[in-house]
Amino acid sequence: MKILTIFLLPCILLNLGDITHAQENEDSFDHYYATAKGKNTVKDWDENNLFSPFTKQEWRSYQEKKINEGRKTELSFKVTYANKTAVKGARLYIKQLTSDFHWGCGMTHRILNNEAYKNWFASKFTAADFHNELKWYYTEKIQGQENYTDPDAMLKFADENGIIVRGHTILWDDIKYQQKWVKALSPEKLLEAANKRVDSVVKRYKGRLIGWDVMNENLHHHFFEKRLDKNASAMFYNRVYNIDPNTTLYMNEFNTTEHVNDEDAPPNKYLRKLKEIQSYPGNGGMKMGIGLESHYGAEPIDLHYVRSSLSLLSQAGLPIWLTELDVKMDPALQNPTELQVIYLEEILRESFSHAAVKAIIIWTGASIDGCDVMCMTNEKLENTPVGDLIDRLMEEWRTGNIEVVADSNGCFEVSVFNGRYEVTVVDPVTNASTCVSFKVDKVSIPDKNIHLQILG
Ligand SMILES: *[C@@H]1O[C@H](CO)[C@@H](O)[C@H](O)[C@H]1NC(C)=O
Ligand SMILES: *[C@@H]1O[C@H](CO)[C@@H](O)[C@H](O)[C@H]1NC(C)=O
Ligand SMILES: *[C@@H]1O[C@H](CO)[C@@H](O)[C@H](O)[C@H]1NC(C)=O
Ligand SMILES: *[C@@H]1O[C@H](CO)[C@@H](O)[C@H](O)[C@H]1NC(C)=O
Ligand SMILES: *[C@@H]1O[C@H](CO)[C@@H](O)[C@H](O)[C@H]1NC(C)=O
Ligand SMILES: *[C@@H]1O[C@H](CO)[C@@H](O)[C@H](O)[C@H]1NC(C)=O
Repeated sequence: MKILTIFLLPCILLNLGDITHAQENEDSFDHYYATAKGKNTVKDWDENNLFSPFTKQEWRSYQEKKINEGRKTELSFKVTYANKTAVKGARLYIKQLTSDFHWGCGMTHRILNNEAYKNWFASKFTAADFHNELKWYYTEKIQGQENYTDPDAMLKFADENGIIVRGHTILWDDIKYQQKWVKALSPEKLLEAANKRVDSVVKRYKGRLIGWDVMNENLHHHFFEKRLDKNASAMFYNRVYNIDPNTTLYMNEFNTTEHVNDEDAPPNKYLRKLKEIQSYPGNGGMKMGIGLESHYGAEPIDLHYVRSSLSLLSQAGLPIWLTELDVKMDPALQNPTELQVIYLEEILRESFSHAAVKAIIIWTGASIDGCDVMCMTNEKLENTPVGDLIDRLMEEWRTGNIEVVADSNGCFEVSVFNGRYEVTVVDPVTNASTCVSFKVDKVSIPDKNIHLQILG
């Protein structure tokens, strides 16, 4: 029996839709970046001067600070009996049940007949993206002959293992990835076929996915805009929204954080496109999210650019997902993964330090799915250096299990990663145990005080 005096306020929903603030700041992006490039001497530890070239240790301690602020919550427990007397030396076991942050991985149909791969995946990840199995060219290779056998089975596996899945992707704006029959259609027939595609896939998986990529890569490519209408993307977002109104609809793009020189997809253009989609008639209440593919090259990472891009995108108040993260190896090196692992760690630490980043999906986990750019294992599911790094960071960024003994006032303090927890309290006199589970984040527990009251 237990009484838990705890502030269980409803969890706040992400602020979906309002990007006015970001719009106001759009112009400052170039300024930020120019400032970063120009500064060599400033060492002030000030948010506005973040982009000067700090030492590695300075980058790291700032990231730690951001992680503590954005991803962890300090808790101050007091354990008493019902008569308010402190339970001296109460033993507490704190177990993290879930994390608010998701580690995910790309997945292919090859997982379906591979138990070892299934176990490996389910033991590590809580989120997934299918590489190709949901794409139009996969489900309707020949016009009129739809086949959802593989994505159905993959989603079933994910559901059975508590893995959330992104719907990647309903349409793709790159002409290169259209079926021959799609490219051959007249504008009228193309609209008809694309609407049919949207209706088919969205009705099938409605309510079961954590988000949809609606029009993949529509900053770099414009197949549907060119063939149909300038507002084609916005129109398809509207169609998806009307069928599956509760699911977050993402843009998904490359080179928004990876390359300062790509003029098609810098964060200010990303936000402008997002706004354009949101302001299309009927899209007002739509929940949107920011998908960043994050395909990095073998060159040194421009961390200033990563930070300033993520900071600017964060201002939209929308969830950000890194959806296809990988870093190329450098075949010219004696050890081609040496720098790959260093760069990957820099990207992961920087991305994780932005609280708006809700999940990171590694594009290829098991080499069973191909290992051309980066993967976490060899064919026997043994870790590569990349796999070792990811395991290490997964461990670092979760609380795991904690065992503590309260002081003579029945008190103790602890800082934990945000998520759901189960706390078991053992009365040191009787050994009777009580337990309770609750959500931890700064909204659910705003004043950090938790009063656990046990009967005894
Ligand atoms: C549908 O896809 C599955 C899995 O790829 C395949 O085994 C099956 O033969 C396909 N069905 C048809 C009718 O093509
Ligand atoms: C479609 O796009 C054009 C050009 O960008 C714009 O002027 C027009 O208002 C848009 N139509 C709708 C319905 O939003
Ligand atoms: C969307 O979610 C709300 C609140 O959970 C629910 O009441 C509503 O029925 C859902 N709508 C659909 C179409 O699933
Ligand atoms: C990203 O941008 C860089 C620099 O403009 C370019 O070299 C690279 O090809 C781009 N990536 C892709 C996948 O197009
Ligand atoms: C409580 O548990 C401890 C450690 O397991 C044991 O040494 C002690 O005898 C137990 N006390 C009672 C009252 O059962
Ligand atoms: C409060 O309750 C505990 C457990 O039943 C008991 O040991 C203790 O003596 C009580 N204290 C007071 C002040 O009543």
